[in-house]
Amino acid sequence: MNNTTLAIDIGSSKVVAVLAKNDDNLDINILGTGTSNSSGILKGNLCNIEEATTCINYAISLAKKNYFDEIENTIVSISSKDSKSIRSSASININNGMVTEVEINQVLQMAIYNASIIPEYDIVHCIPIFFLVDNVEIKNPLNINGSRLEVSVYIVTVKKTTLTNLKTVLKNVKTNNISFVVDGYASSLALLDEHQKKFGTSVINIGSTTTEIACFKNNSLLFNSSLPVGSNNITNDLSIMLHTPIKTAEKIKLEYISLIKNYASDESLTQQKITIPRIADEQSNSEISVGYIPTIVHARGEEILILSRNQLKKSSSLENSNSGIIITGGMSNLSGIKELAQKVFEGFQVSISYPKKLKNGYLDFSSPEYSTVVGLLYYGLDSNRTYQLDSNKRLIKPIKLEPVKPPISQLPKDKPTTQGQNKPDVLIPISKQKSKFGERIWKKIIDAF
Ligand SMILES: Nc1ncnc2c1ncn2[C@@H]1O[C@H](COP(=O)(O)OP(=O)(O)OP(=O)(O)O)[C@@H](O)[C@H]1O
Ligand SMILES: [Mg+2]
Repeated sequence: MNNTTLAIDIGSSKVVAVLAKNDDNLDINILGTGTSNSSGILKGNLCNIEEATTCINYAISLAKKNYFDEIENTIVSISSKDSKSIRSSASININNGMVTEVEINQVLQMAIYNASIIPEYDIVHCIPIFFLVDNVEIKNPLNINGSRLEVSVYIVTVKKTTLTNLKTVLKNVKTNNISFVVDGYASSLALLDEHQKKFGTSVINIGSTTTEIACFKNNSLLFNSSLPVGSNNITNDLSIMLHTPIKTAEKIKLEYISLIKNYASDESLTQQKITIPRIADEQSNSEISVGYIPTIVHARGEEILILSRNQLKKSSSLENSNSGIIITGGMSNLSGIKELAQKVFEGFQVSISYPKKLKNGYLDFSSPEYSTVVGLLYYGLDSNRTYQLDSNKRLIKPIKLEPVKPPISQLPKDKPTTQGQNKPDVLIPISKQKSKFGERIWKKIIDAF
């Protein structure tokens, strides 16, 4: 099975590329990984095509270092920033009385046709919320008998220009198919179990410059959105408030910050002083108290969480989050974020989540920064994936095990009784081949005379 897939998460702080394929048991088998620091990418936008191309190509070249064959699929993350989502529905007759993949594809394409899509936008996802066969709700309608198939779908569209710019940056990737997946959807696929997908969970991926939000219920995406805020805002606040360069502010953020106000029970830690360089005058230093830092960042952390809550509330996704709120992305490493989020999302179960385990000898994916790229791999290679249309409007199907072909030595030697079925037609017994060859020589000799 050649379904080699290149997953690329284009983030504002780093680009991660992972090459993988299904093994014989349909598990995801990692073939290579590559990471590069981002350049020319900001708040989910490509702001410098040349720089973005260089860093994306570098990550891809590392991932493909040991692989020389063709890549079947390339799956790329995209921010929900430039997206608009709508619902649609469709119904068709089941001509032969039983639903096949032809009808599933047909009804999903019809749902796109029925939707009013703004001309400047292109389809990225068409995800079924539910199917009905003869008015009965069915999770997977394949092989169900009936006369009418209906579907209700969640459609995600993204600005055409955003997709064109990404395709320009990816033109060096020699691949058959490029498809795009919105970040929040990818993170959900990496983090949520079947229970959470069914009963309703919201995922908030707080990265460096964007916060990507998604809500899942009844095994379908119901909401996706993006906020132009992330961990970089905390770095900027620290840099301004402490009059120190961005580099130092980032270091302080990673070493000393907690969102819990009196976080250190140990008094000596809060009273500890650190010396930092001054902005625009790195020769002179200033001294600050570690206990002062949480006061600066607390407001910003709270603001990001409140903005996320408001987005979820506005779309009724919060009331659909019966299985809780999941926080992921680089900023979820921040100490105290769970406690603060628990206050902001009062009454909901909040957890910090890491991607599902993907065993490999290259990269430890069990860190919240990898939620998106792991989700892209699940989108492309998870055997349990559900029917939906991708950004090329192609039907995505569950991946099935290929039937195992018996070795030649085990093929039946005797002629089968059932009209040649199961008969290894292609394998002509050697003696017969010889006799046919002899016949042809004999015929040629006769013809010559
Ligand atoms: N302990 C921490 N506390 C606060 N921020 C952190 C911590 N660890 C990592 N980060 C921040 O997480 C960010 C990287 O996260 P991630 O990889 O999810 O972002 P990204 O995908 O590159 O960005 P985006 O999704 O915004 O385009 C960086 O800004 C980094 O400073
Ligand atoms: Mg990200």
